[in-house]
Amino acid sequence: VREPDLTGRHVVVSAGGTREPLDPVRFLGNRSSGKQGYALARTAAARGARVTLIAANSALPDPAGVDVVPVGTAVQLREAVLKAAADADAVVMAAAVADFRPAVYAAGKIKKKDDREPEPITLVRNPDILAEISAERARAGQVVVGFAAETDDVLANGRAKLKRKGCDLLVVNEVGERKTFGSEENEAVVLGADGSETPVAHGPKEALAETVWDLVAERLR
Ligand code: PMT
Repeated sequence: VREPDLTGRHVVVSAGGTREPLDPVRFLGNRSSGKQGYALARTAAARGARVTLIAANSALPDPAGVDVVPVGTAVQLREAVLKAAADADAVVMAAAVADFRPAVYAAGKIKKKDDREPEPITLVRNPDILAEISAERARAGQVVVGFAAETDDVLANGRAKLKRKGCDLLVVNEVGERKTFGSEENEAVVLGADGSETPVAHGPKEALAETVWDLVAERLR
């Protein structure tokens, strides 16, 4: 158990995966379970922080002592994150956010027409929440942390993404068939905008969460 080094701090964590509806019964989604984000929320609360957890479609139980805000889509996630970030000392974006959403939402269930080929789905861009909160810090000294799920050239892609998004820290985790998404464990390198590189060995998602808070606490001091 760490020192209560986040006492008096308000931290915002996003978790889970957004779902972008096509019609009342279908959506475009991803495999995020919310486990990494919930581990971040639990460990921050244990270190004394007031925690707002913006939870996108996770089936996990609410962590004790954490303020949970459930959301569905990327647009809803953005609203909730911006609102909570207004007085936050740190924002950690562990959620897997859909980059695109269907351009049209069909109010009625899309029907299969036996005599016709299916209609293509047109997508439009979702807002980039991490880039937005990094560019317009709600508070001086606010620490912004992103996650990057990469399948190849993990470090090079991570460095480029850190720069593009403008956050202070980027947790780069490699994803694969049975890796990271949904599992109890994770393995990552935390890249700092200051050029630092902190590897975190394969282990429980709580261990990675503790390292993230160590690096955040350092930057808040
Ligand atoms: O939930 P689990 O099953 O435990 O899995 C954890 C995880 C793999 C989902 C998590 O560790 C993780 O890597 N989350 C980020 C996944 C992701 O969407 O990465 P990305 O490279 O697409 O996005 C980079 C960053 O930008 C992320 O912080 C993301 O929250 C943010 N983003 C992305 C798109 C968008 N439109 N807005 C954003 O803010």
